[in-house]
Parts: sequence; C-alpha cells; structure tokens
Amino acid sequence: MAHVGCGIDIGGSGVKGALVDLDTGEFIGERVRIETPQPSTPDAVAEVCKQIVEALGVGPDVPVGIDFPAPIIHGVVPFIANLDQSWEGVNVETIMAEHLGRAVTVLNDADAAGLAEVAYGAAKGHPGTVIVTTLGTGIGSAIIVDGTLVPNTELGHLEIDGRDAESHASSGQRELQDLSFKKWAKRLQRYYSHVEMLFSPDLFVVGGGVSKKSEKFLPLLDVKTEIIPARLLNTAGIVGAAYEASRRA
Ligand code: BGC
Repeated sequence: MAHVGCGIDIGGSGVKGALVDLDTGEFIGERVRIETPQPSTPDAVAEVCKQIVEALGVGPDVPVGIDFPAPIIHGVVPFIANLDQSWEGVNVETIMAEHLGRAVTVLNDADAAGLAEVAYGAAKGHPGTVIVTTLGTGIGSAIIVDGTLVPNTELGHLEIDGRDAESHASSGQRELQDLSFKKWAKRLQRYYSHVEMLFSPDLFVVGGGVSKKSEKFLPLLDVKTEIIPARLLNTAGIVGAAYEASRRA
C-alpha cells in the first residue's frame, strides 16, 4: 500500500488539498479546491480545511499537513501580509485541531514548497545550500542545506532600495502594475543578486504559478548561481505539507 499523507495549501484566493503518495510525491485522486472565505478569518479558513479533509475522506491514521502564507513559530503566526490580519498571534495548530478534531502539522507555504522540491522535484539530490523562492501574491522563501530546512526565512520581506522586496518584485505586483516580463525581470535581477550576495547559495529554484512561464524571465537574469524553475509547480505546497506531516508523525 502507498505511503500516504494529506496536504492542504492555504492561499489568498483558494484553499486546496489532496492526498499524496509520499513515495513519489504525486497526488492520489483529485485535488479539492474551495475559495478562500472573505474575510479570511481563522475560524472561517479552519472550517474550509475541515470541509476539504471530509471531501477527501482522509482516514484517521493519515497525517495531515497544512501550509500557511506566513511564518509559523511553534504553531503561532507572528505577522501576516496576505490574509486577514486577525491571524496575528493565533496558534494555527490549535485552531485547526479544534475544527478538524485531529492533530495537524502546520508550516510556512514556501517552506513546504521548498521541502517538496528537494524531496521530489527540481532540487532533488542537490547538495549544499538550496534557496527556493515562490513568486506569487508575495515572495516566499525556503533555505535548505543538505536536506535540512532553516524554517521561516521570510526573504520576501528583505528591504531592498528602501522597499519591502515583495511589494515591488512579486508576481502579484507584475500583474497589478501590468509590467512586461522584461521590466519585471529587472526587478527580479535586483532581488536575486541581493539574495545571492547575502547567502552564496549553490542553487536557486524559482516556484509559484508564474514558474510555468519561466522561459519568459529566467533567461533574462544574470546571476552566478544556477537558477532553475521549480518542477512541482502548483502541487508543491500540498506535497510538502503532506511530506512534513508524515515526517513529524
Ligand atoms: C509571507 C511569507 C509567505 C510568502 C508567500 C509573504 O508575504 O510573509 O510567509 O511565504 O508571502 O506566500
């Protein structure tokens, strides 16, 4: 029988979940998606997670991992950029356990995506310091050194040229400001050279929905570090959350 986990990815527009084959990193069956409730308060979002677990028919012994678009320090959200502000100070593990009636593992969304890329995707088997960035509404980051995650790195909030990096260089800003890929790539260039200078990584993996179109912007970037698109694309958060839940179970 497959080694199975359940992953749920909480985003600004949708909450998505699936059962994951942890031997291959692939989904088992269909993904379930429910719109993120507005306002996206803790109780409303936890209720949606419950509906997803029910819809997937997750058995009692299957570990459930949930990823979240904010740092998670021992279960608690210290600050949040892209969901309802009432999450600040909330223990996500506790509120999810109350609604779902079971223990869950909660981690940052980019950390989940990073773990998935290292375990099953673009960075599989890559030694040294791997930095996975997710370009979406915000910019998420994961630093993984020889397979070990340094959690909650929040490199999207680096201050570069007096600005919060994600408020200038995220894919969401590209869309909002209707930037061409060429113009956006200039902002990414500034971002990745800065991160490269700070961390001297061995590999950059670029994820988030826009990495489907990586050929439009990655070739425009001039960094010394190898920089490659993510492989798991929009499944990475779910797969990484399921993977981490099973590791902590
Ligand atoms: C949050 C990070 C998150 C990233 C991507 C940022 O605004 O602070 O925790 O990983 O967005 O969702």
